[in-house]
Amino acid sequence: MQKIAKNQNKRYSYLAKFFHWGFVFLFGHGIIKKVDNIEQLEDISLLKFEILFASIFLFFLILRFFYMKKTQTTSLPKETPKSQKFAAKLVHYSMYLCLAFICILGLMIGLFFWLGFKNGLVIEFIILIHENSISIIYWLIAIHIIAALYHRFRSDGVWNSMVPIWLEKN
Ligand code: HEM
Ligand code: HEM
Repeated sequence: MQKIAKNQNKRYSYLAKFFHWGFVFLFGHGIIKKVDNIEQLEDISLLKFEILFASIFLFFLILRFFYMKKTQTTSLPKETPKSQKFAAKLVHYSMYLCLAFICILGLMIGLFFWLGFKNGLVIEFIILIHENSISIIYWLIAIHIIAALYHRFRSDGVWNSMVPIWLEKN
């Protein structure tokens, strides 16, 4: 049987895991508490909350990106084909980009609304891209989870490096 290359010793730092799982929680919260229609933003406390939430989200997203880039490396085994490494990088970077885009567009909606541009082509267009970016992130997250499960079934150590449950036995 073909021997599967492993990277069992590789673990992300506690802070890296905190960022990863903290963001899963924060993003889930953002989705559950989403704005259902633009009129809701007439409620000034909701508008302020949305803006604060998106700003904090964006700040920590940028912090996380630089922390991960400077201090952590992928847990894919060295022998992983180049195409797979590239695909993983592409999905990870796209997730960062898409999340940042969702926040920035959300902040733009908030700003336009606050300035009194509550309807019209511009704000409708921004909302359209905001919503489309959300559809894209759902797809990216789905691909990411399928890839994580694929590694779990291969038992190559990638799952264990980030996920604290259903651990592979060494
Ligand atoms: C991390 C930040 C944010 C997340 C995760 C998020 C999430 C969402 C989601 C899931 C939807 C529904 C998409 C759909 O049904 O296709 C949505 C729509 C929308 N969001 Fe956000 N949002 C964020 C920030 C903001 C901010 C800061 C504002 C404005 C202050 C905002 C305003 C809106 C509006 C106006 C809609 C469209 C509602 C409608 O259908 O009329 N969002 N957002
Ligand atoms: C909102 C949902 C999620 C997002 C946005 C997300 C994003 C990311 C990103 C950007 C990375 C690269 C490392 C980093 O920069 O932190 C990563 C790594 C990882 N994630 Fe997620 N993730 C999500 C949910 C999940 C879930 C639900 C699982 C498991 C079922 C998972 C398993 C993993 C694993 C195993 C790695 C390590 C991959 C490697 O080293 O190449 N993620 N995630």
